[in-house]
Amino acid sequence: MLTEAQFERARRLALGLAGIELFDRHRELLQRRSDRLIGQDSLDALLDAAEDGDTDARRRLIELLTTNFTGFFRHPWHFHLAAEHALWAVHRRGSARLWSAAAATGEEPYSLAMAVIDVFRRDDPAVTILATDIDEAALAVAREAEYAGAALAALEPAQQARFVGEPTGGGSRRLVPAARRLVEFRRVNLADLVWPLDGIFDVVFCRNVLMYLEAGHRYAVLERIASMLEPGGLLLLDPSEHLGGAAELFVDRGNGAYTRRSAAGRASASRQGSAR
Ligand SMILES: C[S@@+](CC[C@H](N)C(=O)[O-])C[C@H]1O[C@@H](n2cnc3c(N)ncnc32)[C@H](O)[C@@H]1O
Repeated sequence: MLTEAQFERARRLALGLAGIELFDRHRELLQRRSDRLIGQDSLDALLDAAEDGDTDARRRLIELLTTNFTGFFRHPWHFHLAAEHALWAVHRRGSARLWSAAAATGEEPYSLAMAVIDVFRRDDPAVTILATDIDEAALAVAREAEYAGAALAALEPAQQARFVGEPTGGGSRRLVPAARRLVEFRRVNLADLVWPLDGIFDVVFCRNVLMYLEAGHRYAVLERIASMLEPGGLLLLDPSEHLGGAAELFVDRGNGAYTRRSAAGRASASRQGSAR
C-alpha cells in the first residue's frame, strides 16, 4: 500500500523536478506503477535517493510519474496544417523549424515528418523537426523508431507502404530513413527555467502535456513558447486543452490550433479584456 508519507514525498518531487501536479486521484496510478516497475519496498529508497539529488533516481522517478500515451496522426488535421505552414515558411525564408515539445515515444514528430515529406513531395525538404521530452526512457524508444503493428495500424495503407520499413523482430517494424532523418531528439524539461534550445520556431506541438503541469508552469511554458514562435507561428494543443491565462498571447484558429499574436494585437486583446 502506498503510504500517505510516500505520496506526499512523491508529490513534492513531481512538482520540484518536473512541474507536474499530483492530485489525490493519482494515488492509485502511482501505486500501480511503483508495484509494477520497482516494487513497493524500493519506493522509499528511490524517494530517498531522488531527494538527495541522485540523477539516476530522479530519472527513474520521472519515468514513474509521466504518462507517455501517444499515437501516429492523433488529430490528423494538425499535421496537414503544420506541414502547409512549413511549406509557406520555406517559400518565405528558405527553411522551417518545427518542434514537438512533448514527443513521448516519437509517434507525433514522426507523423509530422511524414506529413512534411508528403506536402513537399520530396524526402529532403529544408525542414528540421526538434522532438523533446523530459522522459529519457520514452526518448530512447523514439530514437529507435521501431513500432508494433498495433501502433503502425494508425497509418493509412499508402503511408505504411512509404514510411514503414523491414520487420525488426517481435512484430515490430522500423520507420524508413527518410522519416527518421528529419527528426532530432533531445531531453528538455519544460519546467526548467532555461531550455537548452535556441531560436525561433515556425510550428510548436505542445499537446497533452500542459494538463499535467501546475498552473504557474503552464502559463510560463506558453509564454516562453510564444516568445520562441515566429510572428504568425503556429501552436498546436490537443483540442480539449485551453490556454488559460495565456489566451491573449495567441489567436484561436479552432480545433486546438493557435497563431502567435503580434505585440500590437496583444495590447489590443488585453485592452478588450480589461474593458469587459
Ligand atoms: C501524454 S504524452 C503526450 C504525447 C504527444 N504530445 C501526444 O499528444 O500524443 C505526455 C508527455 O509529456 C511529457 N512530460 C511531462 N512533463 C514534462 C515536462 N515537465 N517537460 C517535458 N515533457 C514532459 C511526458 O514524459 C510524456 O511523454
